[in-house]
This record gives sequence, C-alpha cells and structure tokens, in this order.
Amino acid sequence: MTTEPILTTGADWWRNAVVYQIYPRSFADSNGDGIGDLVGIAEKVPYLKDLGVDAVWLSPFYPSALADGGYDVDDYRNVDPKIGTLAEFDAMVAAFHDTGIKVIVDIVPNHSSDRHEWFQAALASPKGSPERDRYIFRDGAGPNQGQPPSDWKATFGGPAWEPVGDGQFYFHLFAPEQPDWNWDNREVRDYFLQTLRFWADRGVDGFRVDVAHGLAKDFSADPLPTAAELREIEGGPNHPYYDRDEVDDIYAEWREVFNSYDPPRSAVAEVWVDVPERRARYATQASLGQAFNFDLLRANFRAPDFKKIVAKNLESAGETNSSSTWVLSNHDVVRHVSRYSLPLTAPDSPFIGEGPTWDRDRAWLISGGTEPIADRELGHRRAKAATGFILALPGSAYIYQGEELGLPEVVEIPDADRQDPAFYRSAGYEVGRDGCRVPIPWTPDDPWFGFSGSASQQAFASKPHLPQPEWFADYAVSAAESDPDSTLAFYRKAIALRKALAKASPQILEWLDSPADTLHFSRGPWHCFTNFGEVGVPLPSGGALLLASGDLKDNTVPGATTVWFEERQA
Ligand code: GLC
Ligand code: CA
Repeated sequence: MTTEPILTTGADWWRNAVVYQIYPRSFADSNGDGIGDLVGIAEKVPYLKDLGVDAVWLSPFYPSALADGGYDVDDYRNVDPKIGTLAEFDAMVAAFHDTGIKVIVDIVPNHSSDRHEWFQAALASPKGSPERDRYIFRDGAGPNQGQPPSDWKATFGGPAWEPVGDGQFYFHLFAPEQPDWNWDNREVRDYFLQTLRFWADRGVDGFRVDVAHGLAKDFSADPLPTAAELREIEGGPNHPYYDRDEVDDIYAEWREVFNSYDPPRSAVAEVWVDVPERRARYATQASLGQAFNFDLLRANFRAPDFKKIVAKNLESAGETNSSSTWVLSNHDVVRHVSRYSLPLTAPDSPFIGEGPTWDRDRAWLISGGTEPIADRELGHRRAKAATGFILALPGSAYIYQGEELGLPEVVEIPDADRQDPAFYRSAGYEVGRDGCRVPIPWTPDDPWFGFSGSASQQAFASKPHLPQPEWFADYAVSAAESDPDSTLAFYRKAIALRKALAKASPQILEWLDSPADTLHFSRGPWHCFTNFGEVGVPLPSGGALLLASGDLKDNTVPGATTVWFEERQA
C-alpha cells in the first residue's frame, strides 16, 4: 500500500466503491403483486443516486422455485418471469449506467436448483452417465445401498446426501433443492464461463460470487471421512469441500474472461473462511480480485476488536494488491441495528441469551425463546457510529438495503410466513434470515408502506411476500428524507463527504493514540474518531468538524458516536 490516493476510476472503480446490495424481491414492487421486481428497482434509481452509491449488487433475480430465496437457480441466463424480463433487465442496467452507477450480479456456482435442466437430465439418466457427472452422485452405503455415502450434514440442517431411488445419492451442501455442481467436469466449467460472458456482454460491471470457497471438491477418499473427522480438519487445506487449493484454477479461468473486457469486469468472493491468509487467495488479481471479510459483522462493538480486524484486513489487502471490504449487514445476517441492541458477549463466548438465542459467530438469531434483551436506542447509535467508521476506511463498503433507514431485524414473523430453509430444516431451532429480508417501507401511510404497486394501484396491491410490521412506518424512506437527523440523512452526508475527500485520501490510514474504548485514525488531511464506550470523551483537537453520528455538546463526543474532522492547520 502506498500513500497515493485511492483509485476510484477506470479499471479500479471497485477499489473504493460504496456498493448497495439489493434483494430484488423485497426492494420495490412496481405491479402490485407483492413481489419486488426489476421495473421497481429501475424506478428507484434516483433514490440510489441521491444516496450516492457507486454500484449496486443484485442478489439473484433468476428463475427459481425460491427454495433458498433465489440462491437455487433454475436458469442462469434469464430473469424470473415473476420479477421481470431480460428486456427489463437491460433497461434497468441502462438506467443505472445513465446516472453513473455500476451493476454487479450474483453468480451462484456451487449448486444449481433441482429444477435446472441439467439436474433433471441427470435424474433421468443412469448411474455413470455424462449427465450425472455434472453433479455429485455417489452409490449409497450399507445393505441395498440404502444409506448415505457419509454422515455429513447440510448447512441448513439434515443430511447432505439425498437418495434418488436407484441406489445413488447426490450431494448438496445447502438444501436438497440445491444439488452441488461437479467442478471437475469440463462442461460445467464452460457453462459458467459462458454465463459470465452472457452477463458481461449485457453490460454488467462485476460479479458477486456465492460460496466461492466451496466449488472444488475431493470426495475420492474411501471411506469418506466422518462428520466428526471433518470438524477436526475444518479451516485446513485438506477439507473435502471447503477452501481447497484447486479453486485457484477455476478462478484463473474466470479472470481471463473478466480481463477480456474493457474495463475488466470485477468480482468479489463470498468466502466464509476464517484464516485471513487463506481468504486472501481469492482476492489476488489472478483470482477474483476481492473477497468479503465478514469479521466486522461477527464482532462485538468494541474498540480493540474493531482495530484488530481493520489492521489485519488492510494488511492482507495490501499483500494481494486488492482492497478491503467492509460489511456490517447483508441478506444472511441479523441487521446490525438489532445486533448492536444486544448486550456485548464475553470476548470468548459466541452465544448470548437464555436458550441460547443469539449466535454472534454467525450473526444469526437462534430461537429458544424471545428476542434477547434489546436496547434499541443504543443499537441505533452504535449502528450509525459503525457505519461512520467503515465509511472512513480505505477499501469498499457494502451497504445492505434498508440499513440506510436504520431498519432493525423483524423478529415477529409468524412461523407460517417464514421462507428460509434454515428455519424449516432445523425444525424452527434457527429462526433464519427472513427478518432482514422484509420488503422496504417507502412511505409511512400507504398500504404496504408503499412497497407494492404504484401510488394509484396501492389500494389494490397484494400483500408483500413477507409481512411488514406496524412499526415499519417509523422507518419509511419519505419520512426519513424530510428529517435532517435521520439515519438516511447521515448515510447521504457520509457517502458524499467520502467521495469529496477521496482524491486527497491515501490508501493507508494512520492510527493515533486515543483513550480506552475509542479509536482514532487519520486519512491524510482528515481524521475519524469513534467512541465505542458509553461515557463521553473530549473531541481530539483538530480543525473543523466534518461529520458526526450523534450530537456533540461542549466538544464532548458522546458514547457510541463517530466523528470526522479536518486536520488542524499549522
Ligand atoms: C450464500 C448466500 C446465501 C445462500 C447460500 C447458498 O451464503 O449468501 O443466501 O443461502 O449461499 O446459496
Ligand atoms: Ca412485482
């Protein structure tokens, strides 16, 4: 890393980008059928322009039975007819590009849906056929081959092997409706290379790569290791399906495709790999170029924890000539306002609550009772402060739809309305991720808070696909837009300032000494100071205040507050 300013243009646009994640079915519903759609997204381009984001990332919008919120793809080169058409996709991309916003799409290469034509062909073909070789089929064990080939568990619960009735089983890391592709198969590789080209040719600027650490597999051991043995080798390089070295070859081919475009298409890897050195492999410029680190979204709101994570990830990004990614919320985790409403967990304990109710390591809520004791007001202050902190860092910041409104997690979804396979496959033990996927409130008074239908149709619009609670009215966009103290106003101001300061901001930051429970760093001509504690601390001496996530009185930075200020002129 150098003290040169961060590059924000041309082929390097992604390095310092603010990327806004859209969960298409829950963003804006243009035709009132209760499901968000591409026309709805295109209508909100002005809103995203005002927010100031550099790019949007769309979670899957492909044809899907929604066994896993669209991460079960029936057809990788089409749009789900329930949410749009390819022509509407093109129009949406054009609308974003007209305002200078880039478009990133989600590629799901670890598994397809069980409705994908190639999986249907595999089921219809005999054991040992080329059709079956595109997926991972194995003979069952035990008498009559009735037992699964191993005792492995799927991510959402239940066995990782599903019988197909002829003595064979197929492997699925996630739900049974999500059979894993066989990445040793050349046809599969070519299929994805063509898919990348399909979207890049339509003008897509980059890709978010789902479960990027899962593609390469080695199931040649006989017998396969047991689930207990797998736990022992987790995090190492010899796991049969996580983070194997062979993923490098797959992404080297993808890189050739990305670099055949001008500017090269960008990519960011979703990797839930704990060891930063291993994670860094996905972020080299020979591989995907950038990798998510989810460290902050699993961290307690504590100064030393945040500092350690930032330092480590900046170092790692420097080593791979990548740029860091900062994420507080996404469609898989409890919204950060709600996480920060909870008491801090003991440093060595991932769980909180009676039951237990809260798994900090995965940022997931687990049932077993009620919502853990929450201090919503504190959650809001911490969330704004954390956002002010990450937006001051070098690297790209990923924002998840609704967090700019300060939306908390919706915990009161009736069981019957839940969609997440994690809820069903754990028999309700895991609450799942629906609570962060509830459709956005655009207005406080309209039916469905303005999510469904244009203004004239709203009275007739259908119920949104996930129920919105009454209190969503308090977080509606239109109300936040007219309130200068809203979370939305803070996001707009912070993003605009970040942009204005970018040209002068070096890629590095410099830590400065500061009192306990606080962090202070400078980015060349300006500083960021965060008070993680609850007691006010004096504002470090400096020049003009640029931004504050809370009210300063007598030059005191209150608890859970971030400020940006100018370096004092000599
Ligand atoms: C990723 C997605 C998640 C999905 C899973 C399986 O982790 O972010 O939503 O359930 O992959 O595709
Ligand atoms: Ca719709």
